[in-house]
Amino acid sequence: MREIPQWTNDMAIRQWGAMPRTVLEQTEHGGDFAKRHLINPVLLRMLGDLNGQRVLDAGCGNGYLSRMLAERHAQVVGVEPGQSLYEFAVERETAAPLGIRYVQADLCALPDLGAPFDAVVASMVLPAIPDWTGAMRACVDALKPGGLFVFTVNHPCFEQLWPSWREHGEYRTRRYLAEYEIPGPSGVDFHRTIATYLNQLVSLGCQIAEIAEPGLAPETAADGPDGIDAYVHLPNFLVVAARRGS
Ligand SMILES: C[S@@+](CC[C@H](N)C(=O)[O-])C[C@H]1O[C@@H](n2cnc3c(N)ncnc32)[C@H](O)[C@@H]1O
Repeated sequence: MREIPQWTNDMAIRQWGAMPRTVLEQTEHGGDFAKRHLINPVLLRMLGDLNGQRVLDAGCGNGYLSRMLAERHAQVVGVEPGQSLYEFAVERETAAPLGIRYVQADLCALPDLGAPFDAVVASMVLPAIPDWTGAMRACVDALKPGGLFVFTVNHPCFEQLWPSWREHGEYRTRRYLAEYEIPGPSGVDFHRTIATYLNQLVSLGCQIAEIAEPGLAPETAADGPDGIDAYVHLPNFLVVAARRGS
């Protein structure tokens, strides 16, 4: 396992940017099962009325969330550095235009994106970035004073929820306090504690507005994939909404 300091943003981006087209297509409409039932409803509620709002989808992947936001009449800019993801998002915009502007860039080296944003969303992105503090700062800097920053991460207490539940019928972990690498099928994530994320947000002058740990409704779990009942009992995601200081 590679030590964290050896990772650069470019190394992580190259892994994410090789995501196969089949995976991108599987999640192009609303994301995967967990995003459709746990993340999207909370994000949309936290963002509120999007009509005419200028929204940055930071680390937008295949653009599924950008499209959902644009369909709700937001003016969306999607930033994505990974090659296959960026190309897929642009291709979908070309085929069925929603007015989304996609920019291929690392959040830590953003070009000028124009006027400040009413809201910035970074869904499942900060854990994928070695220099996550630089990325979080860029998200906050992109906001208007008082603008809303919403981010989601795999819940740092339950990152292996599904596999652990299937193997043991409960959640087991041995490590929480260290920062470590979590290799995944499409790219690498990094474990950081809840306090690490929240204290960084506070140090950037943000005021936390809400924290959500969404659980799955039992009737929804009944229609889901094997082992998904874990999500009824424990939160797979942490969702944080904060306002930039004025
Ligand atoms: C788990 S995916 C989430 C994608 C999308 N937000 C979603 O919810 O489907 C992580 C994303 O972070 C992107 N990413 C990795 N490093 C980044 C960086 N330095 N700046 C911006 N995005 C980055 C990856 O390319 C990938 O699209």
